Amino acid sequence: METTKKLSALFCLFFISNQAVSESEHMETFCNKSSRNTTSNNTTFNTNLNTLLSTLSNQSSFANYYNLTTGLASDTVHGMFLCIGDVNRTSCNACVKNATIEIAKNCTNHREAIIYYFSCMVRYSDKFFLSTLETKPNAFWSSTDPIPKSFGKFGQRLSDKMGEVIVRSSLLSSSFTPYYLQDTTRFDGQYNLQSVVQCSPHLDSGNCTTCLKLAFQELTHCCGDQLWAFIFTPKCLVSFDTSNSSSMSIYLPRSTSVSIRGDNKLLGGMVLAVAASVFAHLGL
Ligand SMILES: *[C@@H]1O[C@H](CO)[C@@H](O)[C@H](O)[C@H]1NC(C)=O
Ligand SMILES: *[C@@H]1O[C@H](CO)[C@@H](O)[C@H](O)[C@H]1NC(C)=O
Ligand SMILES: *[C@@H]1O[C@H](CO)[C@@H](O)[C@H](O)[C@H]1NC(C)=O
Ligand SMILES: *[C@@H]1O[C@H](CO)[C@@H](O)[C@H](O)[C@H]1NC(C)=O
Ligand SMILES: *[C@@H]1O[C@H](CO)[C@@H](O)[C@H](O)[C@H]1NC(C)=O
Ligand SMILES: *[C@@H]1O[C@H](CO)[C@@H](O)[C@H](O)[C@H]1NC(C)=O
Ligand SMILES: *[C@@H]1O[C@H](CO)[C@@H](O)[C@H](O)[C@H]1NC(C)=O
Ligand SMILES: *[C@@H]1O[C@H](CO)[C@@H](O)[C@H](O)[C@H]1NC(C)=O
Ligand SMILES: *[C@@H]1O[C@H](CO)[C@@H](O)[C@H](O)[C@H]1NC(C)=O
Ligand SMILES: *[C@@H]1O[C@H](CO)[C@@H](O)[C@H](O)[C@H]1NC(C)=O
Ligand SMILES: *[C@@H]1O[C@H](CO)[C@@H](O)[C@H](O)[C@H]1NC(C)=O
Repeated sequence: METTKKLSALFCLFFISNQAVSESEHMETFCNKSSRNTTSNNTTFNTNLNTLLSTLSNQSSFANYYNLTTGLASDTVHGMFLCIGDVNRTSCNACVKNATIEIAKNCTNHREAIIYYFSCMVRYSDKFFLSTLETKPNAFWSSTDPIPKSFGKFGQRLSDKMGEVIVRSSLLSSSFTPYYLQDTTRFDGQYNLQSVVQCSPHLDSGNCTTCLKLAFQELTHCCGDQLWAFIFTPKCLVSFDTSNSSSMSIYLPRSTSVSIRGDNKLLGGMVLAVAASVFAHLGL
């Protein structure tokens, strides 16, 4: 079936660094290569896009989330940014400013694109996307150090804890950092498990929950046996960390799926199918 066709490819970007990574570090950029090219360097669309990116950049000193639409008819551009809930205005602004510059530079002549950083994401498209649940393209990073054997039944604990955090996040009312929830729990007096979830504010809470479950499923799949891991999808993010501190010293982007999905019918079918297996997986 068309819906199960995974237009994905693996990148192995071996970006190993021994320095502490700045929280505004870049993760991944996706430009929709198949979308219609903007025809020249100076179309109305491009002008609208530049205005939109500049506005997003400016607005990021005031809030952790903003969306807007510029232009009319075929020259319309929709855009948004989202900063992670615990990122302050200064860092949010720095991250979004960088992201808007990079996305304009790297996705020249593309009518839609997403860029992910560790502390923010920026997206624009010629199609309205704000309230749609999408899971691709995503980017995930994790440590390269596996969970020590001494942690015991870590997979089960992670799954239980994240399930609980996801349920709690769905009860949050939207606010300045909508749906952002961070939980730290100590296990066996041995390690702290920090869990973070956040949705894009335009998702309703039902779709937020689905988004988080799908993202967490991907995260367990790729990196559930690592000391920490982080996944950013177009509508939500999930991370966990057992490394006790922010001194996460080695970052390795594991792989990313490069398809940008836009067809709601396809997506709806796919999400329902996968969601069922996630619920089963989480025992919910
Ligand atoms: C921009 O594209 C260049 C070349 O394709 C790549 O090396 C660079 O990492 C990209 N930068 C960002 C922020 O995506
Ligand atoms: C990417 O562009 C193609 C061609 O315009 C379009 O069919 C597809 O829906 C786009 N992807 C997304 C996520 O919008
Ligand atoms: C868009 O432009 C790029 C480079 O200018 C070209 O390689 C690509 O084939 C074009 N895509 C479409 C759909 O016209
Ligand atoms: C578009 O114009 C800017 C200056 O206005 C120039 O720096 C850039 O190289 C141009 N890009 C293309 C693809 O022509
Ligand atoms: C772009 O187009 C606008 C209006 O069509 C024009 O005023 C402006 O001078 C053009 N800019 C460049 C760099 O060509
Ligand atoms: C963003 O702020 C800069 C500097 O204050 C200003 O020059 C620019 O016009 C602003 N952009 C928009 C779209 O308001
Ligand atoms: C954000 O999107 C919503 C539509 O979902 C719209 O009502 C609202 O005006 C947008 N915000 C801005 C600043 O354009
Ligand atoms: C914002 O966060 C950054 C990074 O965590 C920190 O260096 C900076 O001092 C903070 N700024 C303010 C005003 O709190
Ligand atoms: C912006 O990005 C560049 C390279 O992509 C990086 O060197 C720089 O530190 C970033 N600045 C901020 C404030 O994120
Ligand atoms: C998800 O969002 C769509 C579009 O806004 C809505 O029709 C649907 O009912 C939502 N699903 C859930 C589970 O809330
Ligand atoms: C976390 O800290 C505790 C004590 O503060 C220590 O016993 C434990 O080994 C640390 N765990 C990791 C993974 O560093």
